[in-house]
Amino acid sequence: MKNYLKKLPRKLRDLIYLARDVAKKEGLHACLVGGFVRDLILGINPSTTLRIDLDLVIEGNAIRFAREYARRLSGRTVCHSRFQSATVIVSNKVKIDIATARRESYPKPGALPQVFAATINEDLKRRDFTINTLALDLTNDNFGNLLDFYNGMVDLGKRKIRILHNQSFIDDPTRILRAVRFEQRLNFRIEPHTLRLLKKAAFDNLLELVSCHRLRDEIILLLKEARPLMYIKRIENIVGFDFFYPGLKLKRGDWYFLRCVDNEIQWFNENFPLIGLSFSWLLYWAAILEPLNIRILGKHLYRFGLRKEEISAILSYRQIRLPLFKRLNKEKLAPSLVFRLLKPLSLETILLVKARYRSVNLSNHIEKFLRYYHGRVPFIDGHILLKLGFKPGPCYKQILNQLLYRQLDDKIKSKEEAIVWLKKRKAKSAKLK
Ligand code: CTP
Repeated sequence: MKNYLKKLPRKLRDLIYLARDVAKKEGLHACLVGGFVRDLILGINPSTTLRIDLDLVIEGNAIRFAREYARRLSGRTVCHSRFQSATVIVSNKVKIDIATARRESYPKPGALPQVFAATINEDLKRRDFTINTLALDLTNDNFGNLLDFYNGMVDLGKRKIRILHNQSFIDDPTRILRAVRFEQRLNFRIEPHTLRLLKKAAFDNLLELVSCHRLRDEIILLLKEARPLMYIKRIENIVGFDFFYPGLKLKRGDWYFLRCVDNEIQWFNENFPLIGLSFSWLLYWAAILEPLNIRILGKHLYRFGLRKEEISAILSYRQIRLPLFKRLNKEKLAPSLVFRLLKPLSLETILLVKARYRSVNLSNHIEKFLRYYHGRVPFIDGHILLKLGFKPGPCYKQILNQLLYRQLDDKIKSKEEAIVWLKKRKAKSAKLK
């Protein structure tokens, strides 16, 4: 494993070597665990440009370790004393989770566990799947040694998702979704015994025992994966969507819509990489719930604790989609009108409407809006209005908007023309008074 470490980008290697030094200084046994080790062995290159997310387990006091580690990195520590763990935040792109090795006992399915200090071996035993039990020893003499207590390497080789014990999905039903996520992302297979227990847990509605907020976080992770449609299909096949909304079934038309949404997201990301879609997962969320009526949908969104802007993007899609389609489904429209109709909406709402109607006229107007109108600003600003003698107040916004509409419609082509227009406008309103 030392060789794997040598190939890592410098930034990552330094973080790992520093963890080794801190463990030595504090006399603690430390291991690198979780997805990072799994992906390292699979040869999936960790991206250091996007985020660095490391998981460390310490036999002993993780909070003491975290404080010293953070000090050396000039980072900050957020402690979670209930779990004897801490997160060291170095920047908004580098975060290291540090946990005290623990055993867990689940008072009831879906509930948060009670935790007890334990050895690293015991800590790995409580984990979701064998492929996630691999650990890399950071303790000095054993530095870089792979710890594989639960046949993780065998299952990585066979490309299998396997739970460690029969109680796993009962202890933590979110593992149902995690199993699908790892299976699809890594192109592995959930092995038959695990799949049987997974289906049984789903059939017994264990996901309904999980708090909506934990469920939401797990669903978002799944929908943020590179090609979520495969994940959604797999969920439909093996567990269905009752956990998302009781009785929810996706019909042919719903799947068609999901594919259209997927196409719109690909189209948007290819054509507008600089604008960036912050919530592409939200579009899939909205599309899965397309069969629900708006009242029930609203309740569902609040129950899952989505954020205000996320809820509003989905609900406004439902409210405005038909009137918006009717107004934009014409070949020729003034750019300022298109701008006024689309500007108040979120990108997510706009793309949902585009996916829903797939009309050439509507698509053209949306594309032009995104390409040419979206980021346009008036030639002049409030300072110039003041210089021209306009009395400050809410009318500024109105005047600047009118100016922008004229620019979009090509009636005003330069700053000079804008000033001429403003002077005329001012003279006119003075006359009226
Ligand atoms: N884990 C678990 N059961 C859960 C959640 C997490 O056993 N319900 C364990 C797994 O060992 C997992 C580790 O905690 O590897 C870290 O969790 P997380 O960061 O969610 O998983 P990763 O495997 O790192 O996933 P990803 O590659 O998506 O970051």
